[in-house]
Amino acid sequence: MTSAALSGLDLLPTAVVLVDVRLAVRYMNPAAENLFEMSSKNVAGQALDRLFADTAVLQAAIGYARDNNCSYTEHDLELGASGRTRLHLSCTVTPVELPNGEAHEDALLLEFRHIEQQLKIAREERMLDQSQANRELIRNLAHEIKNPLGGIRGAAQLLDRELERPNLHEYTQVIMKEADRLQALMDRLLTPHRLPQPAQLNVHEVLERVRSLILAEYPRGIVIRRDYDVSLPLVKGDKEQLIQAVLNVVRNAAQALQDRGEIRLSTRVVRQITLARRRYRHAIAVEITDNGPGIPEALRERVFHPLVSGREGGSGLGLTLAQNFVNQHHGVISYESAPGETTFTILLPVEEAGNG
Ligand SMILES: Nc1ncnc2c1ncn2[C@@H]1O[C@H](COP(=O)(O)OP(=O)(O)O)[C@@H](O)[C@H]1O
Ligand SMILES: [Mg+2]
Repeated sequence: MTSAALSGLDLLPTAVVLVDVRLAVRYMNPAAENLFEMSSKNVAGQALDRLFADTAVLQAAIGYARDNNCSYTEHDLELGASGRTRLHLSCTVTPVELPNGEAHEDALLLEFRHIEQQLKIAREERMLDQSQANRELIRNLAHEIKNPLGGIRGAAQLLDRELERPNLHEYTQVIMKEADRLQALMDRLLTPHRLPQPAQLNVHEVLERVRSLILAEYPRGIVIRRDYDVSLPLVKGDKEQLIQAVLNVVRNAAQALQDRGEIRLSTRVVRQITLARRRYRHAIAVEITDNGPGIPEALRERVFHPLVSGREGGSGLGLTLAQNFVNQHHGVISYESAPGETTFTILLPVEEAGNG
C-alpha cells in the first residue's frame, strides 16, 4: 500500500480506518488508534469482526456503501474492541480506489465520530437558527397581538359604561385587567428595540453591578463568589444589555436556590473559538454556576424558548431576552445542568483589529 496515499489521513482529527473489500484492516490513522486503543501496525491485515465485537451494524453499512457505490452514514453505532467498553459512534463509509502499483484497488474508508461530539455541534447550530427564528416570531406575534388587544380593551371599556346591572361590571373589569396584563407582556417582548450602544467595556464591571443588584434583592442566605481572571481583555458591547442578560441568568440562579446557596461568577479567556459560525482568536467566557436543584428535566431543551417557565408567576422571558442580547453581541449562551450544579456560560467574542 502506498504510504503517500495515506499520509494525508494521518493529520485528520477524525478517526479513519481503511479496510479492503474482504473487510481486513489496512490502516488506522492516529485518531483511530487513539479512539480504539489499537495500533495500526498490530491490526493491519486482521478482519474487522475479529478486532471488534458486534460488527453486524457496521458490516451492513459497509455492504450498503459497497453495493451502491456511494457514501453511507450509520448514525447509531455501538462499537468497541472485544472485551472493552462500547463506544457510541457514527460511521461514514465511503468506497475509495487506492493506487496499487499500476492498477487500482477497491477499498472502503470508514470515518468514525463520537455521537456526543456530533450532537453537540448539531445542537449549537440548531440553537442559533432557532434563536434567530424566535426573535422574529416574537416580534411579529407581539405586534399582531397588540393591535386587536387595544380594540378589545377599548370595547370592554365602552361596554363597561353602558352596563346597567352593576354585577356585570365584574366581567368587563376582568376583560380590561387581563388585556392590560397582556399588553404589558407584549411591551416587554418588544423592548429590545433600543439600538445597542456599543463601547469598549470591562466585563467585570457588568458582573459587579449584577452582583450588587442580586445581593440587594436577596440580602440573606445567598453567597456570591467571584473567580475573575484579571487579565481579561475588554469587549465591545452595550453595557446595559449585558447587565440585563447576566442579571436574568443570575436572578434565575438565585430563585432556584430559594434563599439558600451559592452562586459563583467566573471569567476566563478562551482561544481559537467559533461563535455563531465565525472564528475568533479570543473570546471571553463568563460562567454563572449555582448549587441549586438544576433545571427541571421537562424544560431542558426549551429553557431559551419564549414563555417557557418552571416557576409560578414566571414570564418565561428572562432567558429568551438574555439569549437575544448575547446573540446581538455575536456571542452564544449555553448551559449544563445537574442536581447540585448548574452552569450557564456566556461566550463573547473579542473583536480584534482586522477581525471585524
Ligand atoms: N439556574 C437555574 N436552576 C434551575 N432552574 C433554572 C435555572 N435557570 C433557569 N431555570 C428554569 O428555567 C425557567 C425559565 O427561565 P426564564 O426564561 O428566566 O423565565 P422565568 O424566570 O420567568 O421562569 C425558569 O422558570 C426555571 O424553571
Ligand atoms: Mg427568569
